[in-house]
Amino acid sequence: MSTAEHHESNQAEEMIRVDFDDRVMIITLTRPNALNALCKKLIMQLNSALDQAENDTRIGVIVITGAGQAFAAGADISEMKNLTFAEVAEKDFIQPWERLSRCQKPVIAAINGYALGGGCEMAMMCDIIYASETAQFGQPEITIGTMPGAGGTQRLTALVGKSKAMELCLTGRKIPAQEAEAMGLVTRIFAGADLMKETMATAHKIAKFSAPVVRMIKEAVNNVAEVPLVAGIRSERRLFQSTFALEDRKEGMTAFLEKRPAAFKNR
Ligand code: HXC
Repeated sequence: MSTAEHHESNQAEEMIRVDFDDRVMIITLTRPNALNALCKKLIMQLNSALDQAENDTRIGVIVITGAGQAFAAGADISEMKNLTFAEVAEKDFIQPWERLSRCQKPVIAAINGYALGGGCEMAMMCDIIYASETAQFGQPEITIGTMPGAGGTQRLTALVGKSKAMELCLTGRKIPAQEAEAMGLVTRIFAGADLMKETMATAHKIAKFSAPVVRMIKEAVNNVAEVPLVAGIRSERRLFQSTFALEDRKEGMTAFLEKRPAAFKNR
């Protein structure tokens, strides 16, 4: 095979699988032999799936999970090994990863195994983190001479507080799902066999609600991390008041009073 052909077949390599179930897009990271290490190509494919989900009104919720033993064991170390500071600074290495955190639609992470380094950071960009009993979390970057670089120091600290974040980032200690749940990193834990079933039940539930209302709630909750309290409260009130511009708001309240299920039209 010529170099060009090799390059081409590499380009076509699928690092993720995308499935649809009613109004839910399920993105599975499919590099199990490398514990779903997050290489550049995988991030590009992930981002284009996220773009697709955001642009498709039939999709209400996005689920991300990993094939095999891991959610993701971090950024791809073999891809990073020889990079220089000049290169990573010039290309603003890692910047494309932030696409996930800018999704307007809810994203649920279903963590089936290792969520380490960039894998843990990616999970924290999601809105809800469900984990199997055998999942493990951690920020082990320090053990390979670097540090979290996809929001880990910021998002982990916001979730679990300074001293716990500091200990995890400074020691690289891996923690089991139970500990991650107790400290507020993980939303809920399920037996491995139930993880996807429970994830999909929550995804379908959210996807049935009014899409504009779901979007406004996500925006309001995310404001906590981005704006001071007074501005966040004011913004929440405006978003709340904006729901009164929606037919879905009228329908939801009417349906409740008429003791029937609401028929939302996403407008
Ligand atoms: C590239 C990786 C990888 C990674 C695992 N592999 N993690 N390749 N990048 N992050 C590969 C291994 O090289 C190996 O390939 C195969 O996956 C299986 O891994 P093993 O180590 O053999 O498995 P095991 O002994 O079960 O150990 C599992 C593990 C360990 C504890 C999760 O793989 C591990 O410590 N991985 C690295 C975790 C880490 O340091 N992550 C942070 C990365 S830095 P072969 O070919 O030998 O089979 C990072 C930067 C974030 O994320 C900042 C910017 C985003």
